[in-house]
Formats: sequence, C-alpha cells, structure tokens
Amino acid sequence: MKILAIESSCDETAAAVTEGREVLSNIVATQIAEHKIYGGVVPEIASRRHTEAISAVADEALKAANIGYNDIDAVTFAPGLIGALLVGVNFAKGLAMALNKPLIPVHHLRSHIAANYISHSELKPPFLCLLVSGGNTVLAEVTDYTKFKIIGETQDDAAGECLDKAARCLGLSYPGGVNLDKTATVADTGKYPLPHPHVSTGEFDFSFSGLKTAVMNLVNNTSQKGGEIDVPVLCATVRQRVCDMLISATLAAAEKTGFKTIAVAGGVSANSELRARLKAECEKRGLTLYYPELKYCGDNAAMVGVQAYYEFKDGNTAGAELNAAATMPINYR
Ligand code: KG4
Repeated sequence: MKILAIESSCDETAAAVTEGREVLSNIVATQIAEHKIYGGVVPEIASRRHTEAISAVADEALKAANIGYNDIDAVTFAPGLIGALLVGVNFAKGLAMALNKPLIPVHHLRSHIAANYISHSELKPPFLCLLVSGGNTVLAEVTDYTKFKIIGETQDDAAGECLDKAARCLGLSYPGGVNLDKTATVADTGKYPLPHPHVSTGEFDFSFSGLKTAVMNLVNNTSQKGGEIDVPVLCATVRQRVCDMLISATLAAAEKTGFKTIAVAGGVSANSELRARLKAECEKRGLTLYYPELKYCGDNAAMVGVQAYYEFKDGNTAGAELNAAATMPINYR
C-alpha cells in the first residue's frame, strides 16, 4: 500500500511517498529564506507559498518514487497554522475525490512520533514520548500506534517557542532554536542566573514563558545600561535551562510509569544538548532511548505517510467533510 503524504502545517511544503515504514521519496520545499527577513513565520505568506509549491512538490515526490497518482492520499489536518493547513487539506481532498481513492487525516504530532518508526524498525508501542516542537511540548504514553495518553504538557509556551524568542532577542536569525543551538558554547549560571521554571499543576507539566521573559528582560536591561551580552554563553544557559526541565520531567515520568523505552520527537529533538544529555541519563538508568534521524526531526511528509499507514489500519479515513484545525489534542480520537 503506497501512500502519497502531504504536509503544510507551517513553513515547509512537503510531500512523500511511503509504504509501511519505508520512505520511497521525501520532498521538502522550505520557506525559511522568505520568513527570515521577518524574524519568524508570517502565516499569510506561508499559505501563499504552499499554494504555489504544492502541486510541484507532490509531482516531484511521485516522480522520485516512480509511481503515479493512483494509490492513497494522506494529509496533515491539525494542529498548525490554519491557512497553511488548509492548502494541504484541500489539495489532498481534491486529489482523493478526483481519483476516487481513500484520504487519511493525520494529526501533526502523531506524525512527529512516527518519524521514529522510519529509522528504528524495532520500535513499537508501548513507550513514553517527549514531544517537543515549536508549538507543543507534551509528554505522552504511546499505548498503541493510534492511542495516546497525555501525562504532561506545557502550561504556557512550547520549548521551541522559548528557544526561538530567546534567539530572536539575541539577534540570531530565524529559525532561532537551530541557530541558538549552533551558537551556544558553555552555560554559566553564575553569570546569567536565569530562573528554573516551576510548575504547580501536573507532576510532569512544563512551563517556559517565565524563562522566555527573563531572557528578554535581561537582554533589554543590559542594553539600556550600555552593557554587552555574551551571546554564546547566554544561549548555552537558556538551552541548559530548557533541557533541565525537559529531561527531569521525562525521567520522572519514566520512573513513575515504569516505561523502559523513551522516544523523543518534534523539531526540538534535533537539539544537540537534549540528545546528548538524555542519552547519557537513559544509559545510566538502563532505559532505551530513540530519536528520529536529524532529517526527520523537523516538518516533513515522510513521517505523515508512516503515521497514515497506522491510521488507515485503524479505520481512520475522511471524506469531503475533512477540515483543518489550528488546535487539536493528540488523543482526539
Ligand atoms: O516540529 P517542528 O519542525 O515544527 C512544529 O511542528 O512546531 O519544530 C520547530 C521547532 C522550532 O522552534 C525550532 O527552533 C526548533 O524546533 N528546533 C530546534 C532545533 N532545531 C529545530 N530547537 C533547538 N535546537 C535545535 N537544534
């Protein structure tokens, strides 16, 4: 069963052809250069670029996989930028209707988890997953390929949002989280005593807005006094604080729930400190840790196709009524 998968939830127009967990082609047309001048994604521009690129990107994915428009369609329908999602959803609906083939709606965060299945053929549920992206930070029990239980989540900003905004106020270009990671040297919590975020809701919840505000205040106050920020050290200190929170909640959740397998997913799973420190902590505790390959950490359609395979097996198909949604919990169904 070959699947043509479409992803347009943010600033990458992507299409892929997959078969089970195998990726036959994976095409990503990124809009980074265009959004860079604004310091972040401009939703209206993203939608327009998706509209321009989507047919060519899908054609290229089919050509690279050496198949025609004749199998199954899958599309990211939520969560994400609504105008951006609508381009992919309508493209996929049109194709499915015109060619009379099934359409599989795929939740964006589920597909980020599925990025792990591409590279790790032995990985199967149940496992614990730390999902860290630009818009979401969630700890979930993946009890089956299409069954999820949220046990922790951010109470305000996502980890990626905090890293992106910290990077922006330090003058680093978009995409901020990636550039902050590249610029960071060694943390110095004596020089930059940033707060340790504290959450009083659930045991495994997160909070990043206080840290984000503290960085912005620090940068503004320093500049008002004519001082200079040591950018590489502050980057490292912010990154360390974010990783502290992500790692401690994940390990505490693994201990409490008894899961011996942990997967990390989403754009922030590319973070070098998170990968190294969590690996070392898991090794110490005898836990098995999985990350997606770097090329599948960010938004792509290969992960959508792989998750779609499991959604289809679970009977999850949609018709012309399918709509995009800006927000949608991972356990919506
Ligand atoms: O999953 P993703 O590509 O898009 C969403 O679905 O949100 O995640 C994007 C986020 C951005 O905040 C970006 O700055 C962050 O992932 N990111 C990183 C790194 N690479 C991407 N954050 C920290 N370190 C990285 N190496």
